[in-house]
Amino acid sequence: MPHTLGDRFGRVATDLRVSLTDRCNLRCSYCMPAEGLEWLPDESVLTDTEIVRLIDIGVRLLGIREVRFTGGEPLVRRGLVDIVAGTRAVSPDLEISMTTNALGLARTAHALRQAGLDRINVSLDSVRPESFHAVTRRDRLHDVVEGLAAAAEAGLGPIKINAVLLRGLNDAEGPELLRWCLDHGYELRFIEQMPLDAQHSWSRLEMVTAEEILTSLEKEFVLSPAVEPRGSAPAELFLVDGGPATVGVIASVTRPFCGDCDRVRLTADGQVRNCLFAREESDLRGALRAGATDEEIADRWVAAMATKRAGHGIDDPTFLQPDRPMSAIGG
Ligand code: GTP
Ligand code: 5AD
Ligand code: SF4
Repeated sequence: MPHTLGDRFGRVATDLRVSLTDRCNLRCSYCMPAEGLEWLPDESVLTDTEIVRLIDIGVRLLGIREVRFTGGEPLVRRGLVDIVAGTRAVSPDLEISMTTNALGLARTAHALRQAGLDRINVSLDSVRPESFHAVTRRDRLHDVVEGLAAAAEAGLGPIKINAVLLRGLNDAEGPELLRWCLDHGYELRFIEQMPLDAQHSWSRLEMVTAEEILTSLEKEFVLSPAVEPRGSAPAELFLVDGGPATVGVIASVTRPFCGDCDRVRLTADGQVRNCLFAREESDLRGALRAGATDEEIADRWVAAMATKRAGHGIDDPTFLQPDRPMSAIGG
């Protein structure tokens, strides 16, 4: 019998974010250290078939309407095109998207589109090669720009760009990045840095706030609040110079949007997390590999929602950064 993924606060998760790997080919300083991390062992990572089965259970039995693939970097996962095709086979109506750094996307954009991927969001924090390197510790700006162009050409749009500004690194580049995105037809959103880095070096005082970002953009652009309802989207949108182009801010820290959250996450090793900042996980991989039926897995998933808290609690004195960094949860 179908259920929904409701929580104690009346929110219902319909957006499933699936991390396909914890590995990545960049080393963004707000995410992981230069030397990388201890990656999940291969045997603990869900197989392509296991991932598609869990998505099928989510869609058929639990009311999931959107699936977003994340990482680490989803493009480094070998079976990505097959996973997308398997997910598309679950339902023609499902919205399927991916959050990626776009490295290597030039090679696979068409295949991904053909397999059924609808659209992508791309992480890009600077369009200056030196700053790109300073943030990501790799000289790959050119590949990202190429990947973006290929994705647009393949019809993986509308393409959104996610940018994190770091004080002293790229915090003066907001207007330049916006101009570049407007010129290329990409929808830019600035994300406030969250305490999800593996090094635990996040500091509230250092973080560049949405307010600061908007003030710096307003020196060069006229911004006005977009009128369309935001729903459960993390981004607050502003019309740029009267529109129709928009810029967004994802102010997770200073203007939290947890009250409207419709998201649930599945890690690459098959754990359900009801929040980015959840302190507990529910092991679907174990159930799956022990031979559980679809109904049994669905029941376990429903139960996992009961501990979802009202908000991330970053401002609470008892706040604890989750054990897993962003790269092992999925953005
Ligand atoms: P669309 O608007 O549908 O394109 O997706 P999205 O904005 O939800 O997707 P994306 O993966 O691009 O998310 C952008 C950023 O929003 C993430 O990298 C996170 O920083 C932030 N974000 C997404 N979901 C959550 C959430 O549940 N909680 C918090 N605090 N931040 C989130
Ligand atoms: N705070 C905010 N956003 C982050 N991302 C990664 N780490 C953090 C963090 N600590 C973003 C990336 C990417 C998405 C997957 O999450 O920029 O767009
Ligand atoms: Fe990789 Fe994304 Fe982390 Fe950057 S933020 S290191 S692109 S997983």
